[in-house]
Amino acid sequence: MSKILHENRNFIVKYLSMIESIKFLYKFKQNSINYLSKLMEEEIDIRRISIRNRDLFLMNHPEIVETVLHKEYLIFEKTMKGVELAKGTSIVTSTGDKIRQKMHVARPKLSKSYFPGYLDKMKEIMQVEIERLDMLTQNNKVINLHWELEYILLRLIGKIFFSKELDETHRILCYETHKGSIGLKRIALSVINFPKYIPSKANKEYLNAKQIADEFIKKLIDERISSTEQHDDLLNDILNEIDEKGNPVPDEYKYNHLFTLLPASFETPAKALSFTINEILRNEKIMSNLFDEFNQMGKYQTISVNDLENATYLHGCLKEALRLYPPIWLQTRKNNEEVIIDNVHIPKGSIILMPQYMIHRDPKYWEHPNEFRPERFLQEKPLKHPFSFFPFGGGPSRCVGNQFAFQMIPLVIHNLLTEFDIQLLDKNKPIRIETGITMYPKDGLNVIMKRKLNDTLNNNKPNKGKDNKIILEKEIIE
Ligand code: HEM
Repeated sequence: MSKILHENRNFIVKYLSMIESIKFLYKFKQNSINYLSKLMEEEIDIRRISIRNRDLFLMNHPEIVETVLHKEYLIFEKTMKGVELAKGTSIVTSTGDKIRQKMHVARPKLSKSYFPGYLDKMKEIMQVEIERLDMLTQNNKVINLHWELEYILLRLIGKIFFSKELDETHRILCYETHKGSIGLKRIALSVINFPKYIPSKANKEYLNAKQIADEFIKKLIDERISSTEQHDDLLNDILNEIDEKGNPVPDEYKYNHLFTLLPASFETPAKALSFTINEILRNEKIMSNLFDEFNQMGKYQTISVNDLENATYLHGCLKEALRLYPPIWLQTRKNNEEVIIDNVHIPKGSIILMPQYMIHRDPKYWEHPNEFRPERFLQEKPLKHPFSFFPFGGGPSRCVGNQFAFQMIPLVIHNLLTEFDIQLLDKNKPIRIETGITMYPKDGLNVIMKRKLNDTLNNNKPNKGKDNKIILEKEIIE
């Protein structure tokens, strides 16, 4: 009798915990940011969620993140449910001891020695883009600057890493990459793992995006192979990659590098750029501080790699945006052997969730955690723990493009703010966040822009009193 009671109780406990877990996934999928914000109040460092035979662990402590990403990184591999193609064989998705083999292809062209050349190319593109934005924003037309920023970064990346002039016909890559990121998140958080041939909403979003990226990458490769011109760029390095034994790597690997590098190099930084500008435009004091620095730097035509490196206040703004709105807001890993962390037993094959969003706003590590204060990064020791701020990840798979991002994003911000008066609509409404694989501003970045007339510096006062109809180029809202 007591055995039957015990078994029944076990069944009920299991059943209830399964219901609890499904509820978690459902709410998490519906509004991840709200849900994470609520969980923050409970101050639990490790939370276990069991879904069917799989355990998920939400790790909300910098010490634990350091263990997973850095100290014990060989035990943890990347999880990319849904991106079978890229699994383990690309720069972005490889982990463990594979990273070292894979990273050698990306590192050289992301090293600082190339930055002066990249800066020249960026200035060329920006000059064209400034003129285009000027035309686009004539007559006080309201534009969603967010999409323009995505497109500008796509053009910069195309020129720098693929030596290719991308144009309006490639804009679709921005929209589809964005939708693909939303689809991938849905796939990652679905309780049922639908095969790709089932036309679920998530599968369609991801597969459409993949098809557009496929076409772009295949054309890119074909054009390069048939070209007689020599290019010393990242595309060249990827297409000529050799393994440790000196043999060419399979074509599939090369494709996978490009497939994962494309969103990593333009879409992720574009989200950071958009949030940074969004915050700067809301605060006149911050804008004025920035212009003090811009005045020291001089006009964009003469800006050097060193100027961009030494723009500490601008970097403070970018870092603060990366803290509050980390584009990669949740990093995941799967452990390939069982492990005990912080006295918690983590069975082999569990999914580890490390939410940048939560840790970056934890009051234990940040004063006034929800306020945008670039000054906090100007202090000598801004971090209470090295992993209390990890927008670029950490350990051996830490983002290889982070230094480049700190050249490209500040250059675009400097350029836009010195060339235009930008007025943000709905300035007093809080920024609403939404998430796919990357975090983005749900309402976009709706602005009126007016070209500054003569002296682009010393002129940080926005034009006021315009009355406009909103003509959104494309709604971000899903
Ligand atoms: C603000 C801009 C950026 C942010 C927030 C960002 C964020 C990240 C994060 C969090 C990771 C680690 C992923 C993981 O370990 O699971 C990562 C990896 C990576 N990022 Fe970035 N990234 C940015 C810009 C860039 C740029 C501009 C490039 C290329 C030009 C790039 C290329 C890569 C690559 C190749 C990896 C894979 C590294 C590895 O797994 O070993 N990223 N990035």
